[in-house]
Amino acid sequence: MDYNKIIKSIKSKSGKFNGNELDNVLKYLDSQNSDHKSIDWLLEFEESFAQIVGSKYAIAVNSGTSGLHAALFAAGISDGDEVIQPSLTVIMDAYATIHLGGIPVFVDSKKSSWNIDPSLIELKITKKTKAILTVSWFGLPVDMDPIMKIAKKHNLIVIDDSAETFYGYYKGKFSGSNADIGVYSFENKKHLTSGSEGGMIVTNNEKLATLARKFAGIGYKHMTASAGRTHLAKSTFQDPNYFRFDTIGLNYRMNSISAAVGIAQLERSKSLVKRRKDNAKFFIDAIKDCSWLIPQKYDKKLYEHSYYTFAVLYKGDLVKGISWKEFYNQYKADGGDGFYGNVAIPYLEPALINKKFGKKILGKGLCPISEELQQSVMAFKTNYRDVNECVKQAKILKTLIDKIGRK
Ligand SMILES: Cc1ncc(COP(=O)(O)O)c(C=O)c1O
Repeated sequence: MDYNKIIKSIKSKSGKFNGNELDNVLKYLDSQNSDHKSIDWLLEFEESFAQIVGSKYAIAVNSGTSGLHAALFAAGISDGDEVIQPSLTVIMDAYATIHLGGIPVFVDSKKSSWNIDPSLIELKITKKTKAILTVSWFGLPVDMDPIMKIAKKHNLIVIDDSAETFYGYYKGKFSGSNADIGVYSFENKKHLTSGSEGGMIVTNNEKLATLARKFAGIGYKHMTASAGRTHLAKSTFQDPNYFRFDTIGLNYRMNSISAAVGIAQLERSKSLVKRRKDNAKFFIDAIKDCSWLIPQKYDKKLYEHSYYTFAVLYKGDLVKGISWKEFYNQYKADGGDGFYGNVAIPYLEPALINKKFGKKILGKGLCPISEELQQSVMAFKTNYRDVNECVKQAKILKTLIDKIGRK
């Protein structure tokens, strides 16, 4: 193997991991050979993350999904508890609820922002409601103030799934840090990644942090809210009568190599996210004055979008008689590298449709606005590392729109 060639490629200007990722991983691997104390990568990652987000506690986990599972466990979700959640999101929010015996109660989206509509939440609250799970979709933070107000009134825990929203702000607060618990994902396509999979839970609440950490850490009784391991005397845990576990948990711990990569990504997270925000601007410019491509609407004074993708609603079928798929095919034929449709509505996926949770059988028509939005979304990539490629893609879009007509 030509190590020099590989290192050069990893460290190149266009390399995805061209910061300290490689150095950190090598340091970790090397530390396994020597006697000297190795760096506690998880402790460092959790502490740095908490500082950036502005939360007291951070718990590193092996995915956003496991983070959601642990967060809902910490919120006390168990058999028959209802969890209010959005309908325009990934299926993992519902999965995490269901795996705890909870019931996902889907709420429709706001037509303007596409996020959960706070005005519909209270209508769905019952005696069984225990938590509200929000999702900052495509990088736009949710309207959290009215949701926290409702939660306070009904004594509910709010969890914000900020998997797609890093360095997104709502009224000056870092998205995910303004709920009782925030959950992030470091899966490979996210704003920052811990290599391939990973996630983080944040909270200011010691009890919630302790429960989440224990659930994600196989339920070791000595675990606390804060990062770092509790070191017990060997004679204690070598004793056959030592009992280790007081909580039924799972092994959702992040591994040290992921943390080592994550730390390096975190060091330059501001610029990684800025690149997405800057790339989005090219697409914003491309769709300017186009009446049939409509982005998420929000008050720029209150929200800062983190542009996980640049998503628009396509109305060209109604205005121009060109279907979503025809537009997609034309964009690709013109040299575009494609865009994504919105993932299917969770309750319409084969895994959930026609299944009964609580009194509700899941099926079409439950959240009509989300169902309509889902069919229209076009999500353009913002994670181009080469700005020229993004400019090229936005230009292809602009030219196609001009050819069709903007009005
Ligand atoms: C909004 C949202 N929630 C949760 C997840 C799950 O995260 P992960 O893939 O890290 O399990 C994702 C990512 O796929 C996501 O986009």
